[in-house]
Amino acid sequence: MATVRLSVNINKIALIRNSRGSNQPDLTQIARDCEAFGAQGITVHPRPDERHVRFDDLPLLKDVVTTEFNIEGNPDARFMREVIQVQPHQATLVPDGPQALTSDQGWDTTKYHDFLQDVVAQLQAAGIRVSIFVDADERLVEGAKAVGADRIEFYTGHYAKDFSKNPAEAVKKHVQCAQLAVNLGLGVNAGHDLNLQNLNYYKNEVHGLQEVSIGHALVCDAMYFGLQNTIQMYVRQLI
Ligand code: PXP
Repeated sequence: MATVRLSVNINKIALIRNSRGSNQPDLTQIARDCEAFGAQGITVHPRPDERHVRFDDLPLLKDVVTTEFNIEGNPDARFMREVIQVQPHQATLVPDGPQALTSDQGWDTTKYHDFLQDVVAQLQAAGIRVSIFVDADERLVEGAKAVGADRIEFYTGHYAKDFSKNPAEAVKKHVQCAQLAVNLGLGVNAGHDLNLQNLNYYKNEVHGLQEVSIGHALVCDAMYFGLQNTIQMYVRQLI
């Protein structure tokens, strides 16, 4: 099976920087170091209140990221304008509200068909690969295909929550929906609440998985193991 790419979400690092109003830690240096330590991608999630990564970070990060730059977020007018200007390799569309603590569900790809079809086409016209964040549900995967997405990203929050009770049951829908996505010609990413306990099982079970984006648990682990060791520990889960 091919290696699954690890994209490190550096939003939490930006949160620490923002808390003191200076440039420490330096987000672009962190992005470079994550890549040097083995990350195969860098993800950021600008929110309207810019409490984590800011929109003015995006061009600076685009200049330094040499692996894959993924910008995720809700495609409102500002997000669309800034992302199209920066041209990351991938945009991941997430339906989180402006005040959301974190994303907790994917798109209803049939209800928002017309809106998604329009924003997907605009991003693709700018040369950006588009991934749509969805729960593991066949209808939503088919809906993502119908709006013209290149990939889907499975919301893995429920998987992570149920993993300790019954891993096989927790992953079942993801396995089925990943197979459907592959059959439809969609690429498959995953993210949210993935960690050193539940990642390797997910990767082994979900055939077709190409990329995971991980932020919170990885940054928490880095407090104990250091960023370099932690990234390598995550990469080893994905080989
Ligand atoms: N994928 C998406 C679409 C997200 O919104 C987030 C959180 O910003 C993640 C992945 C990463 O989740 P976590 O921080 O729990 O690893």
